Amino acid sequence: MRALAQPPTVPRRSTGPNAERCRHAQPAEPTEPTAPAEPAVSGDAAGTGATGGTGGTGGTGGTGEVRFDGVSHAYGERPVLHTIDLRLTEHRIGVVGGNGSGKSTLARMINGLVTPDSGRVLVNGLDVAKHGAAVRRQVGFVFTDPDSQIVMPTVAEDVAFSLRRSTLSKAEVQQRVDNALRQFGLAGHADHPTHLLSGGQKQLLALAAMLVRDPQTLVCDEPTTLLDLRNTRMVNALLRELPVQLILVTHQLDLLTDMDRVLVVHEGRIAADGPPEPTLARYHELVLGS
Ligand SMILES: Nc1ncnc2c1ncn2[C@@H]1O[C@H](COP(=O)(O)OP(=O)(O)OP(=O)(O)O)[C@@H](O)[C@H]1O
Ligand SMILES: [Mg+2]
Repeated sequence: MRALAQPPTVPRRSTGPNAERCRHAQPAEPTEPTAPAEPAVSGDAAGTGATGGTGGTGGTGGTGEVRFDGVSHAYGERPVLHTIDLRLTEHRIGVVGGNGSGKSTLARMINGLVTPDSGRVLVNGLDVAKHGAAVRRQVGFVFTDPDSQIVMPTVAEDVAFSLRRSTLSKAEVQQRVDNALRQFGLAGHADHPTHLLSGGQKQLLALAAMLVRDPQTLVCDEPTTLLDLRNTRMVNALLRELPVQLILVTHQLDLLTDMDRVLVVHEGRIAADGPPEPTLARYHELVLGS
């Protein structure tokens, strides 16, 4: 009922692209500098990436660079991430690990939904803690729980909400919204109240609303958890073909076998980092002891 309780043109939150689609977002900072033309590139702290950057495939400007520099975080007294150093430039990156290992915390730092206690996260050279709004224009985030990011009363309005700040004409926005809804099998639901969608349809809507913005990097935290087999396959195929940088947190190991790079998170540390085969073998050892 939540969605209909809102006036039709007013989102529930208003703190910046994507963050404003998230009820757990931290407030956006007031300043929004323009992203530098060239990403700031410095040393690969982890230095264990499989492919060292597979090159620019991004829809709007090549694959991005996401860097973690000595990132640590605790929730209250509970340390969750310990001195993470990473430089992520590959096109398709998978993140796997046991429950509670810190994957979602790590992923949320990429667009400022969680701010590190110490260290920095940089996206294309921008410090996420300082320039969250600018970063969120480049990074889309899809949550496990789609209710976290659906903000408008109807399906089409929710997708259009993603484009409200674009310079596209009304007709172009409409065209993009129609295409996105068609792509995700939601064309027949355009005017339906978002709160009446099934869990899986909400997940598809959340993906459509993120991808319609054409982000440079898309971070997905278990995006197919609620989907049936057909839609899981559809979304997985779509994610596989995406021309944008994908950082995918998942427990579905079959999705990781053709990734450019896989990170195994274990007890708040990067326990393995590299091509799928050895990293997934390490994950098995860690979780199953074999
Ligand atoms: N907002 C929060 N407040 C307090 N503790 C939290 C919060 N979010 C996560 N935690 C704790 O941090 C740890 C890591 O959580 P996180 O969600 O990052 O794990 P995860 O690897 O994504 O797990 P899962 O596979 O179950 O999704 C867990 O122990 C969790 O209980
Ligand atoms: Mg998680």
